Amino acid sequence: MANQVVGTTKIDRLMALLARGVDITTAVESDFNIDELVAGAKRSGQRPAAVIEVDAGLRRCGSPTPAESVRLARRLVDEGIDYRGIMGYEGHMYGQPEDAARAELIHTALATVNDHVEALAEAGLAPKIVSTSGTASVLIASKTAGVTELQAGTYVFNDSHNEEFIPGVFENALTLLMTVISVKERYAVGDAGAKSLTNEFGPPMSVDGTVKVARLSEEHCTLTGEGIAKLKPGQRIEVVPSHGDTTLNQHDVYYVRRGEEVIDTWPILAARKFR
Ligand SMILES: Cc1ncc(COP(=O)(O)O)c(C=O)c1O
Repeated sequence: MANQVVGTTKIDRLMALLARGVDITTAVESDFNIDELVAGAKRSGQRPAAVIEVDAGLRRCGSPTPAESVRLARRLVDEGIDYRGIMGYEGHMYGQPEDAARAELIHTALATVNDHVEALAEAGLAPKIVSTSGTASVLIASKTAGVTELQAGTYVFNDSHNEEFIPGVFENALTLLMTVISVKERYAVGDAGAKSLTNEFGPPMSVDGTVKVARLSEEHCTLTGEGIAKLKPGQRIEVVPSHGDTTLNQHDVYYVRRGEEVIDTWPILAARKFR
């Protein structure tokens, strides 16, 4: 699990998963969280497994220095937690639109992760798991020596945001179907709004690229672009979300399609399970 599990309620749910035989590793970065894992282990009789989260440059979570990672890893071992390695995530790459500068930033982030790996190895705490990478960095991270696990997730369906960064590498498999409810002279209105579609990383576009979702309110969207001249109320439009994760989290099922035929529905079991 590429995140920290903090708070007694969640820690106890983690222990309950372990009791059911689920092999799950979480990230840690603080003594507070290690104390929580130790206390949860004592309450439940389970042995949690953890990696040290390191800050690879994103400036979000993570141990800031190799020395701190060594100290935390040693504590995990001393406390009897199953220490498995480290995790870093170079998500700040998404802020760099220029290809060469982004590649350099990714290499720098992976070198930072490697500094932690070397310090741990020198301290006799060589990490078994070295986990890194989002979708836009998998091509570099997968060729980087020492990386044992890729955390990329968006690539499974892809979205238009990642397509901008690594065009043509992964096909887009996630679309949202909406119905046109109103057509005006300069714009049209669709029946998908912020309750069902995100524009977190820019406006969603129709699959054919001729219609843009220019604005979202709760249950409506304003459609612009050359394609609106041909739209009629009742017509359906298929759009590619700019961000898949925050769109599909709002839905309960995937309609699985082969060509124009819906061949299956898959439940999205983890949708909105954020508590
Ligand atoms: C820690 C971490 N790892 C991996 C990912 C997956 O990245 P991507 O969506 O680029 O595949 C995320 C996404 O937010 C993340 O926060």
